[in-house]
Amino acid sequence: IPVDPFDLVIFGGTGDLAQRKILPALFRRYCAGQWHDGVRILAAARSEHDSDAFRAIVARSLAEYAPEHAGQDDLRSGFLQSLDYVQLDAGADPGWDVLARKLTEDRIRAFYFSVGPSLFGPLAERIRQHGLATPQTRIVVEKPFGHDLDSARALNATLAAYFDENQIYRIDHYLGKETVQNLMAVRFGNMLFEPLWNSQYVDHIQITVAETVGVDGREEYYERAGAMRDMVQNHLMQLLCLIAMEPPAKFDSDAVRDEKLKVIRALDPVQPHHIVRGQYTGGPDGPGYREVVGNPRSTTESYVALRAHVSNWRWAGTPFYLRTGKRLVARSSVINVIFKDAPHSIFGAEAGRHANTLSIRLQPNEGITLKVTIKEPGQGGMRLIDVPLDMSFAEALGPENHQAPDAYDRLVMDVIRGNQTLFMRGDEVEAAWAWTDPIIAGWQARGDVPKPYDSGSTGPGDAELLMKRDGRQWQGIKP
Ligand code: BG6
Repeated sequence: IPVDPFDLVIFGGTGDLAQRKILPALFRRYCAGQWHDGVRILAAARSEHDSDAFRAIVARSLAEYAPEHAGQDDLRSGFLQSLDYVQLDAGADPGWDVLARKLTEDRIRAFYFSVGPSLFGPLAERIRQHGLATPQTRIVVEKPFGHDLDSARALNATLAAYFDENQIYRIDHYLGKETVQNLMAVRFGNMLFEPLWNSQYVDHIQITVAETVGVDGREEYYERAGAMRDMVQNHLMQLLCLIAMEPPAKFDSDAVRDEKLKVIRALDPVQPHHIVRGQYTGGPDGPGYREVVGNPRSTTESYVALRAHVSNWRWAGTPFYLRTGKRLVARSSVINVIFKDAPHSIFGAEAGRHANTLSIRLQPNEGITLKVTIKEPGQGGMRLIDVPLDMSFAEALGPENHQAPDAYDRLVMDVIRGNQTLFMRGDEVEAAWAWTDPIIAGWQARGDVPKPYDSGSTGPGDAELLMKRDGRQWQGIKP
């Protein structure tokens, strides 16, 4: 369904995120007929361009990042016609009047802050000062949303001085991923899983987000962040919330976010011996982390594995093991729910131990596998084996129906529609930092040095030990 006409202003419109993600997403949605001509997309940035020069830049980005629409020249020129450029400085007055004149009265207005957090305050202030904030105005901000609890609180307070919470859209792009939303569909759309979804039946849960990429090109940011701030505090935390939360009464923004917040608040502090940090070393296919960031003594982690506990009635006694790392053996994001063994084996000890496992593959090769125990074929008594009930979404839906749109396609349009369900609320972000901060402070106090691991491996050996000590093991990282 097409959305109502809107004006979208992208601060930092010539930057990497705008060119790689935001504008290609808007273009794809335009090609899909979700919005029509008459919409205005204004890029605002410091550099000097006229609108035609800006359109030429965007045309190149579309060719690279939305290649599926190559050759659709009419659509492309229709999209480019809606673009405009305004030169302005976040911290000074010139340019703002020009921007004001270009905006249309009485329509949805969104300001996308595709800039560093230090500019959030100045931008918010100028939008207000110049009278650009109407009741239909939304602002969109990207991560990193703070570096710790204090800075996140300060950012929230700055934004709250100018906008209501229901106007603020904090992006965690994992929530825009089709398969991440599918977690909610699988849990709350089926009767099959929910009755078993608790510590009585679930032995433990593993959440893995493995990447093959390193930190090249983002050295400065990453050196200050590390995997804990870059991935665990936000993306893995969101996955944990969706897996662990109680069923919201309805699929609406505050109902869902209230339930996620309760999960974060129920998390126990992580014990130092329940967390492993790693840092990749060089190998035949690339330099190690320290070389890449140019700091031979860097103690920033590019890998984290930890054991978390959600202390509530549903999950008491069921650990959640989380791990994420860069330069690992394969790119694979998957959630494994490992059920308990059957309470009594009628087949005797020789049948061995068998546990059902539900694997939800978020990317790539999106799908679900349920490991089921059956009889091993043959005459030799009652031997059991585990076989997969395997469903790939692409196969089940047919490739033409299985489109996994980019997360930004969904999120950008949700901003225009005014739907905050897939965006983080301020209190959620703060609660996540409140859980993360003591972990990082502990490392700093102890002078912790991450364990080296080989590029292209599954991570440091200590992460295996973390599981082994509990009599468990990680599921393999498969592409
Ligand atoms: C970003 C992190 O938020 O997510 C990156 O800053 C990471 O370090 C990326 O590589 C992973 O996103 P995706 O969509 O490729 O899984």
